[in-house]
Amino acid sequence: MSSMAIHKPLFISLEGLDGCGKTTQMDRVAEFCETRNPHGYILTREPGGTEVGERIRHILLDHAAIDAKSELLLIFAARAQHLKTIIEPALALGQTVICDRYVDATYAYQGYGRGLPISLIDELVRILRIPLPDLTLFFDVPVDLAQARRKGRPTDRIEAEGTEFFERVRNGYRARAESDPGRVAIIPATDTLAAVGQTVDAILRTRC
Ligand SMILES: Nc1ncnc2c1ncn2[C@@H]1O[C@H](COP(=O)(O)OP(=O)(O)OP(=O)(O)O)[C@@H](O)[C@H]1O
Ligand SMILES: [Mg+2]
Repeated sequence: MSSMAIHKPLFISLEGLDGCGKTTQMDRVAEFCETRNPHGYILTREPGGTEVGERIRHILLDHAAIDAKSELLLIFAARAQHLKTIIEPALALGQTVICDRYVDATYAYQGYGRGLPISLIDELVRILRIPLPDLTLFFDVPVDLAQARRKGRPTDRIEAEGTEFFERVRNGYRARAESDPGRVAIIPATDTLAAVGQTVDAILRTRC
């Protein structure tokens, strides 16, 4: 095997409900990737990751009402900028990209949560040539546990949705994972931080 193959830059996304533990586990993923890739890694997030993207994130998470299709297109606008200026250049340098939320979140939140047609998201992904990650870690927790973990933090426009919305989002994530098990690993994230971390390590060892 050539060194190119050993150090193939990986694009990894972390997904799940608000409060499931994505950001907490990112450092662990980074630590693991650092030992595997001499070119290093970048940590980034969606929506956001770029100056334009962070401004779009602000619009999206602010409490002003936004039509579901406007929300969807803003997310894709931020993603196009993110891919072009951050993700693709990093992968071209051989770096591992670790992204806190990415395209599965769009299917889960805007598709299953908001009820926009999945085919509309599929079409945008196809037309805009949005690449899928190599590996997606889906931290699965019941809605009430995710909400309990977020207690005390300020709530943005999307986090202010009701329980039924988040049940649909969780089902959406599960549907995405079940339809693409080679890419999406479901991590039962109800366990302790240490136990979830061990599951993350085990998955990274087999897939990276
Ligand atoms: N396995 C766990 N057991 C107990 N507490 C946890 C666990 N994972 C995360 N937490 C705690 O839950 C809270 C939410 O975690 P975190 O911020 O990582 O979630 P998140 O998925 O990034 O949420 P958001 O989508 O809102 O950014 C934090 O206070 C974190 O310390
Ligand atoms: Mg987070």
